[in-house]
Amino acid sequence: MDLILNTALAERYAAPGETEAEAARARGFYRELAALSPADPAFSASGWVHCQEAACELELILRKAAEIRRDAQVFVLVGVGGSNQAARAMIEALKAPGGPEIVYAGNTLSAHYLQDVLRRIEGKSVYLNVIAKNFETLEPGSHFRVLRQAMAARYTKAELAARIVVTGTRGSRLEKIARENGYTFLSFPERVGGRYSAFSPVCLLPIAAAGLDAGAYLQGGEEMEKKLAAGSGGDAARYAAVRSALGRRGFSVEMLAAFEPRLFWAQSWWKQLFGESEGKGKKGLLPACMSNTEDLHSMGQYMQDGLRCMMETFLMVDDAGARLEVRPDPDFGDGFDYLDGMDFANINRAAEKATVQAHDAGGVPCVQLRLPRIDERAFGQLFYFFMVSCALSGRLLGVDPFDQEGVEEYKRSMFAALGKPGRNPR
Ligand code: PA5
Repeated sequence: MDLILNTALAERYAAPGETEAEAARARGFYRELAALSPADPAFSASGWVHCQEAACELELILRKAAEIRRDAQVFVLVGVGGSNQAARAMIEALKAPGGPEIVYAGNTLSAHYLQDVLRRIEGKSVYLNVIAKNFETLEPGSHFRVLRQAMAARYTKAELAARIVVTGTRGSRLEKIARENGYTFLSFPERVGGRYSAFSPVCLLPIAAAGLDAGAYLQGGEEMEKKLAAGSGGDAARYAAVRSALGRRGFSVEMLAAFEPRLFWAQSWWKQLFGESEGKGKKGLLPACMSNTEDLHSMGQYMQDGLRCMMETFLMVDDAGARLEVRPDPDFGDGFDYLDGMDFANINRAAEKATVQAHDAGGVPCVQLRLPRIDERAFGQLFYFFMVSCALSGRLLGVDPFDQEGVEEYKRSMFAALGKPGRNPR
């Protein structure tokens, strides 16, 4: 079974025919995206549209991942934003047994955090994957130096060469570093931007090193690619259309709500994808996330009765992946006997259904996106669906969903503040 989109509740908030008109425009944008020729300026950012094109160097990736799983006690994934989010989302949601402990670095400038990373690799067999499309980004670049120095204190040059994998663009400084030091080099495809890199080596090496099935993941992506292609964007065009129609009616926030806490990092991936792709020209829905039922006890109040500026997308999962029944305890008198014999998977589902009903009644346009289960194949479908949706949604909004000038501005400002040569001090 595949990912299922239900936009019926949300569409009631648009004018008659409005969503359909937006969906027709979105399908037009999809056809343009799928048919881009090298002469088109947008072609340079469309290398993710075909999963197979993005998923290069698979054999090398699987070989290196097997070595990492065999020899590493700790695998450090150094990257930020699009260079770590997809892999982290999958690794943290699926948690394959065995293999090395996964540690994330290159995603903060906190001394406390970095010190903790150093503590976690101390005395352990370490492998490192440094991922950076533009090897000027401060967080991964600076962490690479600190971690490399820590490793150099206990490994020979040859051992370091075996333990460091760098993922960067061909011709970049990172590739030269790999060549100079004998590190394994993986391609960050030139025509794929960070947040659209989910099917490239950027994500494939870390997930395979974490013991996940890269083949099943790619299969899911390709299934969705075919499905969307058959309908000129299909459900991705519809989801983009609903966002666009609601955005025009003043709904300026989209809340992505999930009732599986292990989807926290997947929600974070989604937040980056839409936030960085659409927040431009003083436009775009603000992407926000709720991890329920916990956040129902905080943000739930706002969703039910705060300012009516939010639409909500429920990321639902049919098979919870676990069963746990509430056993009777008649003599204890805790007041929860009404749950006797019920499974937590069903209790959680009931809470989810009740939340959709309550928020719908409270004036929130609700979209439902249903996954059969949380596994590699489902992630493939989900990531591909969202990437196409985001590209189409950005086009409907009239922004370029593939650039990120706002982030570049922050980087420039930070470089100047830190006195990077060639930057004006501020
Ligand atoms: O989506 C994007 O382009 C960004 O989020 C980048 O992935 C992020 O800034 C990291 O960039 P880099 O890989 O160049 O260090």
